Amino acid sequence: MTTLDIAAPAAASASTQDSAHGKISYYGVHHLALNTDDMKITVDFYVDVLGMRLVHAMKVPPGIGTGPGNRGNPPFEEIRHYFFDMGRDALLAFFEMPKGAKQKGDRNALGNMQHVSFAVSPQGQARIRARLEANKIAYDGPLEILPGIFSIYVMDPNDIRLEFSCQPSNGEGEPLIVPLVTQTKSEALQELRSLSSDQKWLARTVSSLAD
Ligand SMILES: [Fe+2]
Repeated sequence: MTTLDIAAPAAASASTQDSAHGKISYYGVHHLALNTDDMKITVDFYVDVLGMRLVHAMKVPPGIGTGPGNRGNPPFEEIRHYFFDMGRDALLAFFEMPKGAKQKGDRNALGNMQHVSFAVSPQGQARIRARLEANKIAYDGPLEILPGIFSIYVMDPNDIRLEFSCQPSNGEGEPLIVPLVTQTKSEALQELRSLSSDQKWLARTVSSLAD
C-alpha cells in the first residue's frame, strides 16, 4: 500500500466530515412540480388570471416516462412539462397527465400537498382579487392567518388549493416572511414541549432562536 493509498481515504473522510457539519444555505424553492390533465386551461389560469409568466414549455424527453430512465417522473411518455415564473427566482412547474389516466387527489392525504402560498404585496393581492372577481372565480379571505399576514385562498382549475399571502407592514416591496413569524426560544418551547420531553432535543431544536 502506498502513502497515496492511505492518504486518499483519510482525505475523503475529512472532506465528508466537513460536508456533514458545515452550514447548509437554503435559497428558497427551486421549483415546485404539480399535476394537471389540461395544460391549456392551466396556462390560461396562471398566465391570464394570475399574471405569471410562462418561461419554458417542453415535452419530457423520450424514455423518461415508462422507460428505464424514469427517476420518479410521471409514468407517461413525452408528456407536457411547462414552467412559470413564481418570483424570487423560483419556478412553478406542471406535468400534463393523459386525460383520465389519474384520478383527482385528496389534498389532505399523507404525502400530498395541502396547499401552496405565494408571497405577494398588498397591491398584488388586491389585483389578484380583482382578476378573480372579473373571471367569476370564488375565493376566501383576506384572512389574518398569523399576526400581520393576510391571505386569500382559491382553487386553481386542477383543484389545487392556492394561497396568496401579503404582509402590509412590509409595504409594497418583497415581504420579509421568515422574520415576521420567527419565535423566541420560549415561545417555540411552549409548543415543542408537547412533542417531546427530551431536554437535549428541545435545546438543540431551538438553538438557532433568540432568547
Ligand atoms: Fe397556508
